[in-house]
Formats: sequence, structure tokens, C-alpha cells
Amino acid sequence: MKTYKVAVIAGDGIGPEVLREGIKVLEKVAELDGQFTFEFVHFPWSCQYYLKNGKMMDEDGMERLAAFDAIYLGAVGYPGVPDHISLWDLLLRIRKGFDQYVNLRPIKLLEGAYCPLKGIERQDVDMIVVRENSEGEYAGAGDWLFKGKPEEVVLQTGVFSRKGTERIIRYAYELARKTGKTLTSISKANALNYSMVFWDSVFVEVGKEYPDVKTYSYLVDAASMFFVREPQRFQIVVTSNLFGDILTDLGAAVAGGMGLAAGANINPEGRYPSMFEPVHGSAPDIAGKAIANPLASIWSASQMLDFFGHEEWGRIVLKAIEHVMVQGKYLTPDMGGAAKTEEVGDAVVSILSKIKQ
Ligand code: NAD
Ligand code: IPM
Ligand code: MN
Repeated sequence: MKTYKVAVIAGDGIGPEVLREGIKVLEKVAELDGQFTFEFVHFPWSCQYYLKNGKMMDEDGMERLAAFDAIYLGAVGYPGVPDHISLWDLLLRIRKGFDQYVNLRPIKLLEGAYCPLKGIERQDVDMIVVRENSEGEYAGAGDWLFKGKPEEVVLQTGVFSRKGTERIIRYAYELARKTGKTLTSISKANALNYSMVFWDSVFVEVGKEYPDVKTYSYLVDAASMFFVREPQRFQIVVTSNLFGDILTDLGAAVAGGMGLAAGANINPEGRYPSMFEPVHGSAPDIAGKAIANPLASIWSASQMLDFFGHEEWGRIVLKAIEHVMVQGKYLTPDMGGAAKTEEVGDAVVSILSKIKQ
């Protein structure tokens, strides 16, 4: 019997509420399969933890996490702790420290999911955003000079290394080749005259090794417009850290809402654990009301199953999510329903058992 060791960082706000349902689903999958189990170890690291202990994670936190097969994370950030502290000391620390340089965010209109766009067919929204996840605009390089003085100057430097740029673009080409899909690079070389000129040139250069992959290149402003007007243009998308962040919230809005958007932070070499988490944040506006949509977390759990090589189970979990949405009986308010978070998780679990029979 294989046991997957999963570190759970439920975090803040709705994080613990939605993760509970994802864990329920993973446990049901393991039970139905019979060949593997999960061992979940919970870490209390969060803004609450910070307010009590003055730190977002323990000093030896990264070493402890390194022993796990994967990390399952809810959300980090809550009023009362400055966001740049909570995020840099926990979420971004893990992404960077574990070199999870690939952020895979599917934007796929599942059956039963609501799309606010007019004249769009379900199959028109089916892409995977490959977001650079280790450097770029999130490098954290900069300075704050003459703080509070009239001559105050703030610098936030984007860092695009050859290694970092090449490896994410290569990953996207490989994915496009493997899946037989087109690859679109999204950048902004007309204004960002160093970083994005470099990005575009690497995209062309690496592309020479992939003559079989059909490519497109868009400026990010036009790409945002096409995400809404003609999402069918995109299949595999590769883009920088910040553009990927923004575009995937836009993508979420197009494909069923924030309550459904999933993501995986991958260290492809497997040297460190990868991390699975919904795209959304801690949603302070609805936290504690038991109405958060757990489907994004459950979809992230499906990505974890894929990552562990249980793609069949990954597909079955997605199917179960679709069943719940098509049935429409157990949906949270963001999807127009009146169900509680827990009822949605229970509905997914009960459908899983039926699909498996
Ligand atoms: P958010 O994603 O938390 O919320 C944006 C809107 O979407 C809110 O109206 C919220 O109610 C709604 N929403 C989000 N997830 C939902 C769900 N599962 N079900 C139903 N509705 C949902 O973004 P924000 O308000 O800008 O950020 C809140 C906090 O979360 C901030 O501290 C921010 O830094 C942090 N954040 C963390 C992550 C992460 O941990 N990965 C991601 C984004 C934001
Ligand atoms: C996300 C979040 C994070 C990001 C924040 C919380 C640092 O918005 O995962 O999309 O920008 O990557
Ligand atoms: Mn984001």
C-alpha cells in the first residue's frame, strides 16, 4: 500500500473551510481505490499564527515540509497582518524555496459551470496557463530610498534570468508537444524594453527546437481582450509571473468564477514537494459563514492526483465536480445556490462513490 504524505497548510479565512472538503474528497478516492492512502499532517501557519508567534512559519518549517510528497494549501493573507509580510513569509517562500517554478492553472469551462460571455460554446474555453512562478516581477528585488522624504524613490525590479525564462518556456513547449495543442506566449515587449524583449526572443529561440508546435505571441493588453472576446484562441499559454497572476483571475471569471479556479505549483524535477492550492485568496468578506465554494480546492486535489500519476482519478474527480454543477442542487451562493461549503463537498464525495460502482 502506497502512502502519500501531504502537508496541509489551511491558512487564513476560507482556506480551512475549503481545504476540509478537498481532504474529504482525497480520502474518499483513496478508500475507493484501495491501493493507496494519504497521510495528512496539518500545520497551523497563518496570519493568526503570526499574531501569536511573530512569524508566519517555524524556523525549521521548510526543512519539515521538504519531507512531504506534496503540500495542500488553502489561502494566506488576512486583515491585521500586512499582505506583503504574510505572503512573502509563507506562500511565496514556499514557491521560491522549493523552486516550484511552474504554476499550472487550467481555465476550462466544465460542464455545468456558468460562463458570463455571450455566444461562447463550452469547448471554446479550454486552456492551461503556464505561469512563471519563481522570479520576474515577483523577484522581490528593489529598494525604498529616502522613505517619507520629498525625494522618496521606490524601486521594484523585475528579474528575468536566462535560466528562469528558458525553463518555463521550454516546459510550455513540451506540454504543447505532448498534448498536440497550440502555444501562445503573452508578454509586453512594446513597453518593457528589456525584460519582455528578452522573453520574446527566448520564446522564438527555444521554439526552433519545436517546429511541430504551432505558436502565437500576444501583447498582454490585447490578450486580456481576447480572453473575453475569443477565448478559443488560446490552448497552452505561457506568461510571466505577474501577467499570469492577473490573467488567471480573469480566466476564472470566464470559466465559472473564483470558487472554481484551481492551481498547481510544480517543481518538475521532483527535488522538492509541489504545492496544490486554489487560485483564490482567503476571501475575508465571506470567511466564517460556511458558504465558501470548495470546488476550486477540490479541483486542485484532482491536480494532485494527476501529479501522483493517478490521472484516471484526477479525471473522475473532475467528472464528479461536473455532476454536482449540472445537478445544481448543492451549489454555494457564488454559483447561484444556497448550499453550505460542507454540502458541496459531501455531494462530490457521494457522486464519487456512484461513479466508481
Ligand atoms: P480573494 O480571491 O480572496 O477574493 C476575491 C473575491 O472572490 C471575494 O469577493 C471573495 O468572496 C470571492 N471568492 C474567492 N474565493 C471564493 C470561494 N472559494 N467561494 C466563493 N467566493 C470566493 O481575493 P482578495 O479579496 O483580493 O484577497 C483576500 C486575501 O487573500 C488577501 O490577503 C490576499 O493577499 C490573499 N490572497 C491569497 C492567495 C493565496 O493564498 N493563494 C490568493 C489571492 C489572494
Ligand atoms: C495567487 C495570489 C498570489 C500571487 C499572492 C497572494 C501573492 O494572488 O496565487 O494568484 O500573486 O501569486
Ligand atoms: Mn492571484
